Amino acid sequence: MRILYVASEALPFIASGGLADVAGSLPKALQGRQHICRVVMPLYGDIKPEMRAKMRFLCDFTVELAWRHQYCGVFEATIDGVVYYFIDNEYYFRRSGIYGFFDDGERFAFFSKAVVDMIRYIDFRPDILHCNDWQTALVPCYLNCYYRGDDLYRDIKTVFTIHNIQYQGQYGREMVEDVLGLPRGVAEYNDDCNYMAGAIIQSGMVTTVSPTYAREILDPWFAHGLDPLLRQYSWKLRGILNGIDTVTYNPETDQSIYKTYSVSTYQDKAVNKQRLQKDMGLSQMGDAMLVGIVTRLASHKGLDLIKFIFPKLIEEGMEVVILGSGEYVYESFFNEMAATYPDKVAFRCGFIPDLARKIYAGSDVFLMPSKSEPCGLAQMVSLRYGTIPVVRKTGGLADSIVDMGDSGGTGYTFQSYNAHDMFGAIKRAQSHYYDKPAWERAIQNAMKTDCSWAKSAKEYTSMYEELMGW
Ligand code: GLC
Repeated sequence: MRILYVASEALPFIASGGLADVAGSLPKALQGRQHICRVVMPLYGDIKPEMRAKMRFLCDFTVELAWRHQYCGVFEATIDGVVYYFIDNEYYFRRSGIYGFFDDGERFAFFSKAVVDMIRYIDFRPDILHCNDWQTALVPCYLNCYYRGDDLYRDIKTVFTIHNIQYQGQYGREMVEDVLGLPRGVAEYNDDCNYMAGAIIQSGMVTTVSPTYAREILDPWFAHGLDPLLRQYSWKLRGILNGIDTVTYNPETDQSIYKTYSVSTYQDKAVNKQRLQKDMGLSQMGDAMLVGIVTRLASHKGLDLIKFIFPKLIEEGMEVVILGSGEYVYESFFNEMAATYPDKVAFRCGFIPDLARKIYAGSDVFLMPSKSEPCGLAQMVSLRYGTIPVVRKTGGLADSIVDMGDSGGTGYTFQSYNAHDMFGAIKRAQSHYYDKPAWERAIQNAMKTDCSWAKSAKEYTSMYEELMGW
């Protein structure tokens, strides 16, 4: 099968969140299963010159977006056997930053239309267009409204994957005709223009990134208003758990960590802890359990629970290292905690992949109490580095982490969105931590857990096959 994977970000070119990890690793895994999977993304000004140097110009054409006629160039690069296409338009994409502009709705409408047009000009005829999140949600809408009459497009199937239902591409209705150039009613929902709703209706298949989240988004608590629509289309909704790239996330070869280690040399994980504590200015006295947190500082990550009981963690003799940036309330809270407990709490504000890896390797437990979590990748990365996850049982966290109380457990879980329940789970981890032989077994067990794409790539293949049969 030939799949064109459409995403607004992909590693190794640019990343702001988990979508880039998926777009940078699932296509590779699918190619391993004899498919041809290529990726298309915008050519952002922020893509580093050394990555740009790998690209070559392919072609250019004009994209019609309502009354606009916009230039579109296409570049191409091959990384690890995967072909990436880049949509070039400097007015839309040569800016510093990738999202958060007043005209994001127009920028990604342009991108989506350009992707559909591009198929005419390149030598790749996809069987499936696999779109991701609201930024690419108009692809199936344009395809169905304007291109189906052309033989080239008649049989192309579409898949739309929801990585996070909170961001839907929601605007005033006037956007639909004036900017998107779509007929009224398409990409509209509840009197608003809504890109994601458009994709749910227009795509052949809708998937999300874990089976539990696929069930959760049928419920108003999780769905940010889209649950009635998803219930209506639940017949084409599937949940497939993400994997992680186990080649780049590998403590045996990771050049970002202080000392590499494997399941058999897991003792060297301790060296990573000591060096991390030293670099972060944390005390090495006693044998404090080091809690790592790497996250966007957004409320759905469960940070209010952490805020609520934070001093108790320190009173119980733990140390905490936090890396992340985002909402001001959390940045200022963690700054305050680091100032209050200078040798027990360290906070670095930012998106620093190199430090993130040091935290995955050097922490004892990894805390991820998300209010909702479509899949979550950090808990799987921490397993791979032998850092025991403490997670709330929701979405992909529920599907990837089994509580130690159950057989074959790999982490600690709690159910209710309640700070004391979370604290209870952390305390259970801490008593386990001081039972050294048992803790060492837990580390090894975590490291042996298979979080690779192997199983998921197989499930994607069956889903594509099912869709091709429709
Ligand atoms: C989004 C979700 C996260 C998921 C990622 C990749 O960032 O919030 O849970 O892991 O997409 O699918």
